[in-house]
Amino acid sequence: MKVMVVGSGAREHALAWKIRQSPRVEQIYVAPGNAGTAVMAHNLQLRPDNIEGLAAAARDIGIDLTVVGPEAPLAAGIADRFQQLGMPVFGPTKSAARIESSKVFARALMQKYGIPCPGGTAFSSYDEAREYIKSQTPPVVVKADGLAAGKGVTVVSSTEEALTALSEIMESRAFGDAGSSVVVEECLTGQEVSLLAFTDGRTVVPMVPACDYKRLLDGDRGPNTGGMGSYSPAGFFDAKLTQMVTRTILEPAVKALAAEGATYKGVLYAGLMVTAGGPKVLEFNARFGDPEAQVILPRLRTDLLDIMLAVIHNRLDKMDIRWSGDAYVGVVMASGGYPGSYKTGFPISGLDSLDDDMLVFHAGTKHGEDSRIRTDGGRVLTAAARGKNLAEARARAYRNVPRIHFEGCQYRSDIAAREVN
Ligand code: AMP
Ligand code: GLY
Repeated sequence: MKVMVVGSGAREHALAWKIRQSPRVEQIYVAPGNAGTAVMAHNLQLRPDNIEGLAAAARDIGIDLTVVGPEAPLAAGIADRFQQLGMPVFGPTKSAARIESSKVFARALMQKYGIPCPGGTAFSSYDEAREYIKSQTPPVVVKADGLAAGKGVTVVSSTEEALTALSEIMESRAFGDAGSSVVVEECLTGQEVSLLAFTDGRTVVPMVPACDYKRLLDGDRGPNTGGMGSYSPAGFFDAKLTQMVTRTILEPAVKALAAEGATYKGVLYAGLMVTAGGPKVLEFNARFGDPEAQVILPRLRTDLLDIMLAVIHNRLDKMDIRWSGDAYVGVVMASGGYPGSYKTGFPISGLDSLDDDMLVFHAGTKHGEDSRIRTDGGRVLTAAARGKNLAEARARAYRNVPRIHFEGCQYRSDIAAREVN
């Protein structure tokens, strides 16, 4: 089979790496990919938002399966378009992907079907949102309705800050049309965890849990980023909790979407807060998480291509999906200045000096004219280390990461520390 992976991050490198392990795969294509995918697949110079270009390339090459990494093309209807053309695609349709692309939709769905989520209200009127915020006791959470590259959510401890966040979203339109509506939410406390599942719209099979780190600096300080590290499993989130969340959150969400006429097929990601009152949904995503995928996929023992085909052909109930008991810790190495402005083009050294079983998933990298690997983005790579437990994986991660170097390189030194200490 020929498989095309859409996207250019470390998540997509991990997807291509895992899919390539299938004996049925003849060739992988990644659009547009990076320097890491270039050495194990064919990169196609097509952006993920160029749906017609991707469809034409898939037809010309004879792609048997297209796997969509990021949310933007899903929200733009890439799965619908491929299905219309009779080309197999892994990822939800545009209407099903609304569970990620509209926080107002996701909240309404959760409220209608009794899925545990924080208290809150959606607004399309700026004045009404402002009055509501004034009536609330901080802290509160203000969320832009639409996709905002992970930047549309502000957790604030004063009414003043909440009003500023609201005005940026709805008046200044910092995230464009994503800010035509907002959700104002109760601020929950507890431990965050991501539980992802495969689903064909009927059967829901949870993956192993993972935790990600959104803030730039150690101790969860500094600005929000696309994710600075991850680990799996999560010590505090055992098999019983996984089962409970599958029953009370993931399965009801899949059922609810089907009942609303938007059958969901693909990976459903629940971002959860495990509160004293049980797990509640902070967000749904319509795809694998980044950097969660980089620590979840290495633990998958079952052929990922088989799972994806079972999802497409509605036979996930026939699959026996197995995971290894290993632990993985992933450390994201980013360019200096990220998530603000940063320079690119710096050579990356030390990639050949790592322990044999270290996994390095590339994100913002490219081959320079001198064919050296150089930085080409904010998040440059995820270095993922295996261990028989998190302590071992964490120790191995931080033994190897300092061997990789590029000018301005920054990374967190506390990934999985709370699980170990
Ligand atoms: P989201 O994009 O909705 O996952 O939000 C980004 C981050 O904001 C989450 O990972 C949480 O750390 C935080 N967050 C979102 N909603 C809430 C909430 N209701 N209470 C507390 N923290 C939240
Ligand atoms: N790690 C969070 C996300 O992928 O949205």
